Amino acid sequence: MDKILVHGGHKLNGTIRISGSKNSALPILAAALLTKEPVTIHHVPDLSDIHYMLQILASLGCEVERASGTVTIRAEKIITEAPYEIVRKMRASVCVLGPLLGREKEATVSLPGGCVIGDRPIDLHLKGFQALGAAHRIDAGNVKVFAGELKGGVVNLRGKFGPTVLGTDNVMMAAVLADGVTVIESAAAEPEVVDLANFLNAMGAKIEGAGTRRIIIEGVKELHGAEHEVIPDRIEAGTYLVAGAIAGEKVTLKRVRPEHLEAVTEQLRSAGYQIETSDSSMTIHGNGEPKSLQITTEPYPGFPTDMQAQMCALLAKNSGISVVTDTIFPQRFMHVSELKRMGADIELNNGTAIVKGVERLGGAPVMASDLRASAALVLAGLHADGVTEVNRVYHIDRGYELIDDKLNQLGAHIERVKVKG
Ligand code: UD1
Repeated sequence: MDKILVHGGHKLNGTIRISGSKNSALPILAAALLTKEPVTIHHVPDLSDIHYMLQILASLGCEVERASGTVTIRAEKIITEAPYEIVRKMRASVCVLGPLLGREKEATVSLPGGCVIGDRPIDLHLKGFQALGAAHRIDAGNVKVFAGELKGGVVNLRGKFGPTVLGTDNVMMAAVLADGVTVIESAAAEPEVVDLANFLNAMGAKIEGAGTRRIIIEGVKELHGAEHEVIPDRIEAGTYLVAGAIAGEKVTLKRVRPEHLEAVTEQLRSAGYQIETSDSSMTIHGNGEPKSLQITTEPYPGFPTDMQAQMCALLAKNSGISVVTDTIFPQRFMHVSELKRMGADIELNNGTAIVKGVERLGGAPVMASDLRASAALVLAGLHADGVTEVNRVYHIDRGYELIDDKLNQLGAHIERVKVKG
């Protein structure tokens, strides 16, 4: 298991390229199950979560080829039961349910358990499948969904924490091959949902309204092969914007979609940072100390929960008193106790962190407990004195392609150390 050593206090300058979106690529790869013809996906990031998805697809019978960011999948003959050993490693495995149900009218995956960012139910996914006429059964830790035939229906996918991203994806993927018209109300409007809908439409689906709260899907008899380029990863881009705010003089991101990051840039601008954007690039000028912020996470186009931990790392130093609330995953604050070990002054209360910016953070050994929390600790290390040792780096490798190389390219001093055992 690797660990990362961040030597704090080095200024960041220069340009990096943003990778393809992990959260887009995962359901798009799963959508390959919907056709017997080959599909080709470009800009697939090289991440462990992507490897797991490709392993799951291979174990379901797909032929998978991969060459530097391009993946070709042919799902000519498939089975409908995903193996527990791989599925358990990644919650997003659940997004094979929709396409398997759509094509084969049945699917079995092991039920995702809780994870460190809280209880992760799939009740809304199942509600959506039910609206299409599918039943489900839970047996020995697996969920099986099945239907004699799938018929279009109307379903509202709003849960108590708002719409569901993978739930919307799953229902959309099942409904494309259902008989008749499906309407998803309170659909997730994230750019990753739009990317998936664009890919499905390129395969011959008839989906309208992706990116709004109402998605209308007219079922078709079959889908065909297609080629698609995954959108840039807005969370990776947001993370490097925060790195630029924390330690940057001038940091430029290429291959990015600034319109997907408006909630993040609005907050960074309110904190006093200058950000310039063009069609596909963004530049942030680090100018020292941030002003305090009030941040509440919300479904897109609101401030993303996936950027909450990184903002806590920024605001932990020299910022006055900020209030950060996560309404989507109220328990997603494991980074707080680790930031406190670095000297941060943060109080947690029911899904809200009161962050009192301190004058100095100090490097310390810290433990990354989930993907974005790990990234936040690396960011905190950039403005801490001394060395921050981030353990359990495999969490970062789930979602950031070459984070140490990219930050070093900008002038950071980060080492990756192999730890035996
Ligand atoms: C996706 C993203 C994740 C991001 C999250 C919220 C992927 C692979 N992951 O996760 O990075 O943090 O969106 O933007 O795209 N919920 C229910 N019942 C359900 C499903 C969800 O109550 O059936 C709740 C969740 O517990 C959470 C909220 O709804 O409180 C939103 O979760 P959801 O949008 O489903 O997250 P994911 O799609 O799993």
